[in-house]
Amino acid sequence: MMDKTAFDAAAPERVVDSPLCGAPAFLLDRHPPKVDFAADVLEGLSRPQKQIPPKYFYDARGSDLFERICRTPEYYVTRTELELLSDIGPDIAGIAGCDVTVIEFGSGSDAKIRRLLDALPNPCAYVAIDISRAALERAIEDLARDYADLTVGGIVADFTTPVELPPEAFSGGKKLAFFPGSTIGNMERGHARQFLADVRATLAQGDGFLVGVDLRKGRDILDPAYNDDEGVTAAFNLNVLRRINRELGGTIDLGKFRHLAFYNEADGRIEMHLQSTADQRFEVAGAQIAMTRDETIHTENSYKYSVPEFILAAESAGFCAVRTWKDRQSLFSIHYLAAV
Ligand code: AVI
Repeated sequence: MMDKTAFDAAAPERVVDSPLCGAPAFLLDRHPPKVDFAADVLEGLSRPQKQIPPKYFYDARGSDLFERICRTPEYYVTRTELELLSDIGPDIAGIAGCDVTVIEFGSGSDAKIRRLLDALPNPCAYVAIDISRAALERAIEDLARDYADLTVGGIVADFTTPVELPPEAFSGGKKLAFFPGSTIGNMERGHARQFLADVRATLAQGDGFLVGVDLRKGRDILDPAYNDDEGVTAAFNLNVLRRINRELGGTIDLGKFRHLAFYNEADGRIEMHLQSTADQRFEVAGAQIAMTRDETIHTENSYKYSVPEFILAAESAGFCAVRTWKDRQSLFSIHYLAAV
């Protein structure tokens, strides 16, 4: 078990340092660069194919809607990964061994990390990295309360760019990085390879990386997963326009857009767009934007991987694939990679 007082000499960015059981041991603020919502939206809307980066989906309402998507019957991703994690817990434990420090990229709903921590024999620490300080604080406080023997900490940082992990956060035991949810699928394929290489650079030889990756499959399953009957995914997609109106003084009429999501088989990705239902003009941050009827704003890609495709990307980033698990229907995969 790591000494919970080991952070006494840490950098001034340390904002929480409690040696008490049930409280996070540390929270380091790596001061992620300020995101410029207005500049990103205006730049994206000036392109021939208009676009808005998917990271802007996740304001408070967007995060709630995403949680609701995860519970729709059509969105198999979350429940399949959760079931698979429970089934393979003993296998993961056998490979990872005792006294590992688990590092999670992102800190969304904590159901998955709890399954992993419950499966591991005597994990010594958990460190979450997330760009949202509020989400991170909530996640690590809950875990510190429920896993009193575990050293729990957080790093506020943008994990899609390289994050330096503070050496004092690790006891010298093995690290196990964890990136569930197929969030890697929301990166362009080249960016996903770079992300894998950046994670590899933070690990030592023999450390592990457990990644959840959605599999390529037929559009009979994929299209409904992103077009649920209740319209939750549509509300999630349209919410980014609501956010633009609220935060950037936008004058967008949401009634003049419709949600569009389809599987682009050639590129192996779900594309989400917001399609204009009329010729229209609106204002964003003082700029005039014109759209023609049927023109779209591209809001998200969700890449799907075959098992060999993902293993090739992982190997090119300095990992070897130790084991891959799939659910019975081959909907979803979890890869245990080792740093070589
Ligand atoms: C977060 N991410 C993995 C989800 C996905 O499936 O690409 C986001 C999402 N977009 C629409 N539905 C879910």
